[in-house]
Amino acid sequence: MKSKASAPGKVILFGEHFVVYGVKTILCAINKRITVTAEKIEENKIYIKSNIGNLVLEPNKIISEINSPLKPFYYLANKMSKDQNTGIKIEIESDIPLGVGLGSSSACCVAGAAAISRLFKNTSNEEILELAIEAEKTIFENTSGADCTVCTYGGIMIYDKENGFNKIESEPNFHLVIANSNIEHSTKTVVANVKQFKEKDEKTFSILCDKESQLVDDVLKLLKENDIKELGNKINKNQEYLETIGISNEKLRNMIKIGQNEAFGAKITGAGGGGCIFALTDETNLEQTMEKFKSENYDCFSVKIDFQGLDTF
Ligand code: PMV
Repeated sequence: MKSKASAPGKVILFGEHFVVYGVKTILCAINKRITVTAEKIEENKIYIKSNIGNLVLEPNKIISEINSPLKPFYYLANKMSKDQNTGIKIEIESDIPLGVGLGSSSACCVAGAAAISRLFKNTSNEEILELAIEAEKTIFENTSGADCTVCTYGGIMIYDKENGFNKIESEPNFHLVIANSNIEHSTKTVVANVKQFKEKDEKTFSILCDKESQLVDDVLKLLKENDIKELGNKINKNQEYLETIGISNEKLRNMIKIGQNEAFGAKITGAGGGGCIFALTDETNLEQTMEKFKSENYDCFSVKIDFQGLDTF
């Protein structure tokens, strides 16, 4: 018996870093996916195959002792197959670049939770999300669950620490050009650097948090109106705040300059220090933006918002 599921990656449109200090953040699912296939097998083992390596283990290992990025899959397979007298084979395919802030690990957890749990019972999206967050916690203990939520339900979402998640019902029709700096970054380190910035200059940081809050409120209106030009200006404004807190560097600045010149706006997405930036475009400037990034040898691709979220088949 086989079960298959796919889940989209994500970008943070507005509010990264400031969200850690209570400001609202807006994120959206993108139409690049992780697909997971799970299969019951007779041999009592868990096999995981992916393009970043393989993992083969007996069931019932201690999770904290497993040193592999594939650990969430093992956690899910082990949990679901307990007392079921079966092994599980899992295969992962990805069209999301891994580890660059595009939600690949959350998409893995959501698609993994769906494919594996549905070998045993008909799980709802709510149950799958809960399992996915549990699985993600085996690698990111402090995850807010925001990424897994947007990967499960798709579309655009607003999140803050106090109120949790809310889906934004607008369906704006833009394209994002995502460019990858290919500089590895550690979200944990960059978040720690921002904390230092804050502790050195509480006043500036507090003013920036207020400005970011106002910006997010303005953006909610612009999304409803599908006002892409003004959204671009807000993206550029958000980038100024991210520059101020020190998460940019020369390569990212150069990429952002290309995006801001060719498209409606551009900013870092996610932790910064490396990873990806995105430029906001529509049909009128999508091609020229892609061409410009390519002519300067940057890895780039275009995405749209994914409104489907988790898909099972
Ligand atoms: O690097 P990403 O895409 O996982 O984003 C991190 C987002 C931060 O706001 C920097 C940290 C956080 O926990 O919200």
